[in-house]
Amino acid sequence: MQKTDILGKLQGIVGDRNVSTSSAELYCYSCDASQIRGMPDYVIRPENTEQVSKVVKVAYDHEIPVTARGAATGLAGGAVPVEGGIVLDMSSMDKIEELDLDNLQVVVESGVVQAKLNAVLEPYGFFFPPDPGSSAMCTIGGLIGNNGSGMRSVKYGTTRSYVLGLEVVMADGTIINTGSKVMKSVSGYSLTDLYVGSEGTLGVITKAILKVIALPKERSVLLASFETPELAGQAVVKTLASGIVPSACEILDRNIIEAINTYDPSIGIPEAGAILLFEVDGTENAVIEGIGMVSEVCRSLATSVKTASDKAERDEIWAARKMVGAAISRLDPMRTRVYVGEDVGVPIKQIPAMLHKVREISKEFDLPIMTYGHIGDGNLHTGMCIDVMEDGDWEKLNKAADKIHHEALGLEGTVTAEHGVGGARADFMALEVGNALDLMVAIKKALDPKGIMNPGKMGL
Ligand code: LAC
Ligand code: ZN
Repeated sequence: MQKTDILGKLQGIVGDRNVSTSSAELYCYSCDASQIRGMPDYVIRPENTEQVSKVVKVAYDHEIPVTARGAATGLAGGAVPVEGGIVLDMSSMDKIEELDLDNLQVVVESGVVQAKLNAVLEPYGFFFPPDPGSSAMCTIGGLIGNNGSGMRSVKYGTTRSYVLGLEVVMADGTIINTGSKVMKSVSGYSLTDLYVGSEGTLGVITKAILKVIALPKERSVLLASFETPELAGQAVVKTLASGIVPSACEILDRNIIEAINTYDPSIGIPEAGAILLFEVDGTENAVIEGIGMVSEVCRSLATSVKTASDKAERDEIWAARKMVGAAISRLDPMRTRVYVGEDVGVPIKQIPAMLHKVREISKEFDLPIMTYGHIGDGNLHTGMCIDVMEDGDWEKLNKAADKIHHEALGLEGTVTAEHGVGGARADFMALEVGNALDLMVAIKKALDPKGIMNPGKMGL
């Protein structure tokens, strides 16, 4: 069939204004926040599940790739149409359909923005915990597709813990519902879990039933300074083993502290080899006790410990943490942050070893590596900046990233703890998951026999 006939069909489903084929617009949909690029042939903005189903059916009949996209804040190329075809921009499907708070849940379309959902929930005293750096703009569909997490997962878990059920458009356009409104069910395979983290490779998520929880009454932040990242790592292992469950446990290394203070000197994060930011939330007594315990545990390893229970101070610290991704580039205007090798995770007791290895790799390749991340989960973001016009810099960066990945796997870790495999880490899948990859490929073939759902991703 001619491209013009396909276009006519797509326009017939979503209306002319919700289909784009102009080069300028296609270009805008050719990237996410990674370095991966791919031009789509059509951009479709569906307004409801019925339209998604019909568009996917056209794609199925004509074997056209379909890549669903939320806000494209992903860092691994997950929403980039590397094999062309249709990009489904889900951002128009942004209705919060039900606030069912007596049942501790909400029903939302997948284009709802994380921060918007939380703004709606706050007056009722509830929240949806997964909180990645991009929460101001990332969508629920993207969070589910990548099993996003962020700063609160050390206590509250990842997105997976909050998805009770899904509405999914399968590769042939069939609409299915997984899970239900009950808090637990063992009826058959957990298809909901299969779709969480499937990065759009098994179908398009159009709706979700999400668990929400009551907002904690109090919170407090403790900032502990250390001479080295390794000492900070030891403090994390000790703190978690002592029975405290912090609601956040983040690390910032010396370079990151400098980046934040260069970006906005008014924030004034103290200089140190590394800083740990702990947050404890809960009842007033629980917070006082928890912060006291963290302080006690950290004191023997830290050079100083400081509490920020004042809301304005806390907000400033978290705002500083959230802008790290952007702040990194301020250290050297000639260099650009490239998201490669930036999301390893290791088991808790290996945290100090991984921090040490990152420092060694930085020295070996003579490449500054700025380390931050959700250290309480063993999840490190290793920020590297290069002159993107220099081939030599790319070579160094890729070698360093490879080594970071291998070292993490050597410590029984993972190459991606939260950002996803996408196109960026596809080559590491077999190495990390072994012959379980064969099973993943079999599932992919069963659910997407024509290979049209987000092809070229996850090493499938
Ligand atoms: C963060 C993103 C990079 O934690 O995951 O800021
Ligand atoms: Zn992160």
